This record gives sequence, structure tokens and C-alpha cells, in this order.
Amino acid sequence: MAEPTLSQEAVQASEPTDAFAAFLPFQIRPLQSGDLSKLIRIFRDAIQVSTAGHYDQQQRDAWSLAQNHESLISLLGDGETVVAEWDQELVGFAQRIQDSINMIYVHPDSARVGIATLLYQHLEDSARVEGLSRLTAHVSLTAHDFFQFMGFNSEGEEQADRGGVTLTRHLMRKSLVSN
Ligand SMILES: CC(C)(COP(=O)(O)OP(=O)(O)OC[C@H]1O[C@@H](n2cnc3c(N)ncnc32)[C@H](O)[C@@H]1OP(=O)(O)O)[C@@H](O)C(=O)NCCC(=O)NCCS
Repeated sequence: MAEPTLSQEAVQASEPTDAFAAFLPFQIRPLQSGDLSKLIRIFRDAIQVSTAGHYDQQQRDAWSLAQNHESLISLLGDGETVVAEWDQELVGFAQRIQDSINMIYVHPDSARVGIATLLYQHLEDSARVEGLSRLTAHVSLTAHDFFQFMGFNSEGEEQADRGGVTLTRHLMRKSLVSN
């Protein structure tokens, strides 16, 4: 079967986006077609390991199985996706569709070293360039403190359905307009 492909907009040239990147042990760059086979493992390991303090096994299984290789490729064909590489290994990815931070996942072996911060910052920068006035995210209980650290405020909890299993999450927003 032919490998599904991404739209031209989603696959861009692979160049570090700023001079600062040269001093970091990891690189943030746009998604490339060759990355796609590795993203499902990051997605599933991040859910199974990193969210274990907030969601039980049934919830983690339902969430991690909500995407497969093909559906993830299809999903990442929209909007802007950036990936993080550390020693040539893919360790995280994040996606923005218009004003929504749709996905942000970092492999648990590479957690808490600032990778999600850099991924998010890239997406916020491009949102500002597009002139967006705010960002929205439907945020897992695990990611709540990260998004708060990035300047988002919770507008309350909501329930998400993954294959008939309910997961509590936060609706969070950040204004990009200074008062
Ligand atoms: C949420 C997630 C993306 C954070 O990735 P990360 O690379 O570890 O985050 P960073 O290292 O950039 O964290 C930056 C800051 O955010 C906060 N933060 C991040 N993860 C946190 C956690 N689990 N608990 C509390 N604070 C956290 C901290 O203030 C952290 O700074 P510090 O490490 O100096 O204390 C990652 O834990 C993950 O993939 N989780 C599972 C999937 C998920 O829930 N994704 C979001 C879907 S909405």
C-alpha cells in the first residue's frame, strides 16, 4: 500500500529557525515526511508513561489508541507541525491549526528539559506572525501546569470521549494581545 503523503504546506524545508538553535543540544524544525513513522511511538509512550499520574490504564489505552499511524499522518497534514530532534533522534512534536494548539507530545525519556517549551514557542511565534490574537488548547490534566507555565489560563474542565472512555481535561486560552 502506498504511504499516505502530507500536503506541501505541511512539509517544509528543514532548517533551524533561529541562530539560538545552534547552541542547543536539540533542534526544533518543521515536520518532514520521513519523521512520520516515528511519531506514533512518541504519541503512545508520552500518554502511557507521562500521564500515568492523572489517567488510569483504561483511559491511557483509549487515548493512545485513538490515533494510529495513518490517522496521525492525516491529522498532521493540517496546520503547522514542528518536531524536536535530540542527537538525531525524534523526541517530540507539536501542531497548531489556526488558533488551536492541537497536539504537543514529548517522549518521556526526554521530559522536563524544555523540549515542549521550545516546540510551543515556535508555534506561538508563528501565530503572532499571522496576527492571531489568542491561542486555545484542550489540555490534559498532565499538561495543565505546562500550559499555565506558557501563560495560558484555564476556563474550566471539560470531558473528552475517546472510544467510549471519558477523560477530563481543561479548556485553556492565552491572549497574544498585550493590554
Ligand atoms: C506536557 C508535556 C508536553 C511537557 O513536555 P516537557 O518537554 O516535559 O515540558 P518542559 O520541559 O518544556 O516543561 C516546561 C515547564 O512546564 C511545567 N511542566 C511541564 N511538565 C510538567 C508536569 N508534568 N508537571 C508539572 N509541571 C510541568 C514546568 O514548570 C516545566 O518547567 P521545569 O521543568 O523547569 O519545572 C509532556 O509531559 C507530555 O508529552 N505529556 C503527555 C502528553 C500530553 O498530555 N500532551 C498534551 C496534550 S493536551
